[in-house]
Amino acid sequence: MFQNGAVKRLDAINIIAFASRIGREEALANQHLELDGATAERIARLLEERGHGKPLAYITQKKEFFSEEFYVDERVLIPRPETELLVEEGLKILGEEKGERLVLDMGTGSGAIGAVIAKKTQQKVLCIDISVEALSVARYNAQRLNVTEKTKFLCSDLFNGLREAVRFDVIMANLPYVAVDEWGGLMEDVKRFEPRKALLGGKEGTEIYEKFMGQLPGRLAEGGRVLCEVGGQRQAELIRDRLRARGFSVITRKDLSGVERVLIGKWTSSS
Ligand SMILES: C[S@@+](CC[C@H](N)C(=O)[O-])C[C@H]1O[C@@H](n2cnc3c(N)ncnc32)[C@H](O)[C@@H]1O
Repeated sequence: MFQNGAVKRLDAINIIAFASRIGREEALANQHLELDGATAERIARLLEERGHGKPLAYITQKKEFFSEEFYVDERVLIPRPETELLVEEGLKILGEEKGERLVLDMGTGSGAIGAVIAKKTQQKVLCIDISVEALSVARYNAQRLNVTEKTKFLCSDLFNGLREAVRFDVIMANLPYVAVDEWGGLMEDVKRFEPRKALLGGKEGTEIYEKFMGQLPGRLAEGGRVLCEVGGQRQAELIRDRLRARGFSVITRKDLSGVERVLIGKWTSSS
């Protein structure tokens, strides 16, 4: 992204393909074909939006995540490649044992985590988000991925709206974890276009996770696992300590850039 109205060529090709309702390869292969006036105007408007920083995914209303195409718009965070690590770890755990398992995707946003888990494992997944608007995007994505039967959606502030008796085998959470003092350092297009509530996690970035961990006891089945995406060593240490203090045994996974990205806590009542 450029700040001066310029647009990367690859983004421009994607925009031409989107506005012409053809694939990117087709757009590249048929460069001699003419655009009708309405399409040309649409392309010009979308290029201008991109030049002003609107993320490409919001313009083309799609983002690939775990080799699936998700619908996205400004109501949801654009799924990030680093979140694929959380999904990979969840799939490993769910692949370890046979039988029915109940999964929770806390802070589902576009539904990317929950829908991929439901599709790949055929297990039942409850998707929770505090945003009604995000949940309608998540529901739509579950339809697109053909997992409507396997997914349920609940608008709730963390566990507050969930009846007590429900216990999960696996809880996956990518909750907001940007600290207030990190906000200024984020890319302009993230700050201007992505939902603040999906990113900001309070002063240290861990406020929502702290509340979440306070509500975890009683929400996991015996031997159940919680997987949390975090933003690096400082947060990983804090959340790891809190989980251990609550009786979880915890392991940490780093992403491809070597950043501590996923914490996996195992709950046993004897621990
Ligand atoms: C970082 S985004 C993650 C979205 C999606 N899971 C992903 O990985 O792309 C965090 C999500 O948590 C939701 N959220 C924030 N506070 C919440 C709360 N107290 N209870 C439930 N969801 C919350 C936001 O609305 C947002 O959709």
